[in-house]
Amino acid sequence: MEAVVVYESLWGNTAAIARAIAEGIGPEARALTTTEATGEAIANADLIVAGAPLLAFRLPTEKVRESLRANRGREPAPDLSNPSMRSWLAALPAGHGRSAGFETRFRWSPGSATAAIVRGLERAGYRLVAKAHRFIVKGTYGPLRDGEIERARQWGAELAKAMG
Ligand SMILES: Cc1cc2nc3c(=O)[nH]c(=O)nc-3n(C[C@H](O)[C@H](O)[C@H](O)COP(=O)(O)O)c2cc1C
Repeated sequence: MEAVVVYESLWGNTAAIARAIAEGIGPEARALTTTEATGEAIANADLIVAGAPLLAFRLPTEKVRESLRANRGREPAPDLSNPSMRSWLAALPAGHGRSAGFETRFRWSPGSATAAIVRGLERAGYRLVAKAHRFIVKGTYGPLRDGEIERARQWGAELAKAMG
């Protein structure tokens, strides 16, 4: 099985979860930034797992990313060097693998990033193999709650199993 875990991550929390999911899926799975996950890199993917942070109650918009770029200095510097998950999904070529979405976020926030992620994956023809997952941070910029990395690994293993 060829599996890729694609992520948007400004402060590293979603990247850490993505790597753990890939580990859980197995040695053949790769965690890729939206820059690395080119059409060519994912062309043969049987499974695409896509994740992003929940920012301002949504999958990060270009507007939110721009305001973070403009406000540099008031917070830990965000990594805005990769395209947004939103733009990656908009450019995702049609495929016929399976998919799953995840987000990192606070425990009790309204809103969802995975709704838009799942919509984008399904629009491109990637049918869902599992319900979307949430991974929780303790503060505005992280860190992840204790145990979340292990939970991500376990979810990766479950996804691999569901793929057969
Ligand atoms: C500007 C900003 C807005 C945020 N908005 C929300 C939000 O609406 N709901 C939520 O649950 N978490 C929110 N968070 C927390 C992030 O979702 C969390 O830190 C996430 O893990 C960041 O992922 P990353 O490190 O991969 O960029 C926000 C964080 C920041 C910095």
